[in-house]
Amino acid sequence: MISAVDVITTKRDGGRLSDEAIDWVVAAYTRGDVADEQMASLAMAILLNGMEPGEISRWTQAMIDSGDVLALPDVGRPLVDKHSTGGVGDKITLPLAPLVAACGAAVPQLSGRGLGHTGGTLDKLESIPGWRASLSTEEIAAQLADVGAVICATTPALAPADRKLYALRDVTGTVESIPLIASSIMSKKIAEGTGGLVLDVKVGSGAFMKSLERSTRLARTMVEIGTAHGLPTRALLTNMSVPLGRAVGNALEVAESIDVLRGGGPADVVELTVALAREMLSLAGIDTDPAPVLASGAAHEVWERMIAAQGGDPSAPLPVATHVEPVVAERSGVLATCDALAVGIAAWRLGAGRARKEDAVQAGAGVRLLVEVGDRVEAGQPLLELHTDTPDAVAGARAALAGGLVVSDDSAERPQLLIDTLRA
Ligand code: URA
Repeated sequence: MISAVDVITTKRDGGRLSDEAIDWVVAAYTRGDVADEQMASLAMAILLNGMEPGEISRWTQAMIDSGDVLALPDVGRPLVDKHSTGGVGDKITLPLAPLVAACGAAVPQLSGRGLGHTGGTLDKLESIPGWRASLSTEEIAAQLADVGAVICATTPALAPADRKLYALRDVTGTVESIPLIASSIMSKKIAEGTGGLVLDVKVGSGAFMKSLERSTRLARTMVEIGTAHGLPTRALLTNMSVPLGRAVGNALEVAESIDVLRGGGPADVVELTVALAREMLSLAGIDTDPAPVLASGAAHEVWERMIAAQGGDPSAPLPVATHVEPVVAERSGVLATCDALAVGIAAWRLGAGRARKEDAVQAGAGVRLLVEVGDRVEAGQPLLELHTDTPDAVAGARAALAGGLVVSDDSAERPQLLIDTLRA
């Protein structure tokens, strides 16, 4: 008979959890037979003492087994998905899913809402009038067969152990454990039933993991979990020390994504969209170069069908904030720093993000960047715009940006976006 205290003390003393112990503790916690304080203690022991690859893989399987696996029928195209660890201005899913579908694969992208300074994909899409996030499994399958791309809310039946454990980790200082992050992300992606997975693991101030060393370990751990579960998985390590693109905030990011889908948009958003699409198509066994497909506007047609299939009106005007004001350069020189975390917090305070799960977000709020790192600017020139429906929030946004925008005499270059690629 296994007891929660034995499992906790084994890990506290640096031991390896047996397969039986892992299966039992995850299932018992999901049922409510292991108390929150016991699981919190185990999560802390895991954070401090780590887990071996075999333990992480088994833990992931136990989380998958805590719920259902999305049983998608054959949709006539190879399934492939991507997951980003989240960043400021990271709207890549929006152009990427239709692009990969336009190239012949099917993308079942089950997403979440944002918490904190990184935005959630569903919050962005919900700024489109009429768009609906919740779909049944039958609706997901039909849309994948017909359009080739679905971006929708994850279902409560997928990996319920993760939902419960993630909420507990959030309030017990145990989010940062690499084994727990990796198993959390991978359990949801494996349960979703995708045939291949590309991970975009962010590095830098605006990322979940600030250091290259920890981001690389997280990426490698997730690729190993995917491989152990027969899910072909690759990871791109990408820079998140400056925001992606020029728009941060829900409707602002949708508008920028549409520019990219029409063959325009900021160069970094295009570069990352194409790089991720290449890896996804390679995993799907499709030999099409996505760059000309994106430039041709073909992915924009898929976007319109994808939005319309979920009740959205792709031609409706997007919401705009009622109040817009600039932040200007205090001196002339070169923009040397545009810190992703500072911009993310500013957008969040303007109303683009939420502090608690139950908070509402403002569709039009956010930050629009008017210059890039490396650009020459003159004193008094607007560097960015603050967008909000609640002008009282502007002071907090300005405070978040203090020190995050640096104009200097030295030349500066935008950091390289693509840092590394990990393949199994
Ligand atoms: N995102 C997840 O889904 N899980 C984690 O543990 C951390 C980030």
